[in-house]
Amino acid sequence: MLTTTQNIYILGIESSCDDTSAAVICNGKVLSNIVANQEVHAQYGGVVPELASRAHQQNIVPVVQQAIQRAGITKEDLSAISFTKGPGLMGSLLVGTSFAKSLALGLNIPLIDVNHMQAHVLAHFIKEENSKIPPFPFICLTISGGHTQIVKLNSHFDIEILGETIDDAVGEAFDKSAKILGLAYPGGPLIDTYAQKGNPKAFSFTKPKVGDLEFSFSGLKTGILYFVQRNVKENPNFIEERLYDICASIQHTIVEILMDKIKNAVKKTGIKHIAISGGVSANSEIRRRLQLTEKHNGWTTYIPKFQYTTDNAAMIAITGYLKYLKKNFSEISTKAEARLKVTE
Ligand code: KG4
Ligand code: ZN
Repeated sequence: MLTTTQNIYILGIESSCDDTSAAVICNGKVLSNIVANQEVHAQYGGVVPELASRAHQQNIVPVVQQAIQRAGITKEDLSAISFTKGPGLMGSLLVGTSFAKSLALGLNIPLIDVNHMQAHVLAHFIKEENSKIPPFPFICLTISGGHTQIVKLNSHFDIEILGETIDDAVGEAFDKSAKILGLAYPGGPLIDTYAQKGNPKAFSFTKPKVGDLEFSFSGLKTGILYFVQRNVKENPNFIEERLYDICASIQHTIVEILMDKIKNAVKKTGIKHIAISGGVSANSEIRRRLQLTEKHNGWTTYIPKFQYTTDNAAMIAITGYLKYLKKNFSEISTKAEARLKVTE
């Protein structure tokens, strides 16, 4: 391990899906974290890969420049460049990968490839005032638009998958339910907002019957589709009249499923340090329920700040920093991987 007497500045670059992001971290503390969202996808109701890679191409230079400028440093101060290698959309990953390689070569500094799924979890190691850093071993529920899994971390890079989804990710369950209701993409945050005004017990949906630590959301999505179609047939204004109750009931069902799985993981491992990560961990109900359970079950929970839940480069930079300390650098021949397990 290197000692951290000197300042180590890591630039992180994230371009796995539809957010172009760059961040600078100094000795584990975030100096800047710039995220450019791509509005272009909203009109299509989902991410269009070809448009995403084009938008990354347009955004990457200004986003990186802004991250370096906001950090109050120059690019010559950087110690290493970290970037998302995968998993993600290949056309999107290639933009960040090529850019990171060129910059590292140009500055003659180490290049560090980062697994996006590991980064979601390792975002918990960003040092901030009053931040609660989980001790090993801990359990993390990673819930995003592309992934849903429960992992156990024995150390930063010793990760075991305890369970994962056998079909859709939980973010997809939110987004597809929102689409059925005619809401814009991404629908997760909208369901969260409307749910706050509704009754979570107004309607009930069947929870999937899968293994204790497995997830499945495709049946729930179909159930919600049939439920809406049935009710709209009887009353064409059903969605408008009951939108808040429908959203609250959908959210309640999804959060119940997630809480059940966390409880099963605690039972199986005996570990009571529980973290959540990924875009869906921004959801207010899962946050509330976890905090409640912390009080009642003697758990310690770790809930990331909002800016580190959805895709962001600060999580790539902190993972890069942890790899830098181990001198775990990448060859220039490293390549983007659309599919990559959290353990790889
Ligand atoms: O981690 P993320 O930004 O991208 C992926 O790696 O997939 O996660 C995006 C997902 C989307 O499905 C979005 O609807 C969901 O996170 N999301 C939410 C909330 N905020 C974002 N879902 C429910 N409630 C929220 N507040
Ligand atoms: Zn993500």
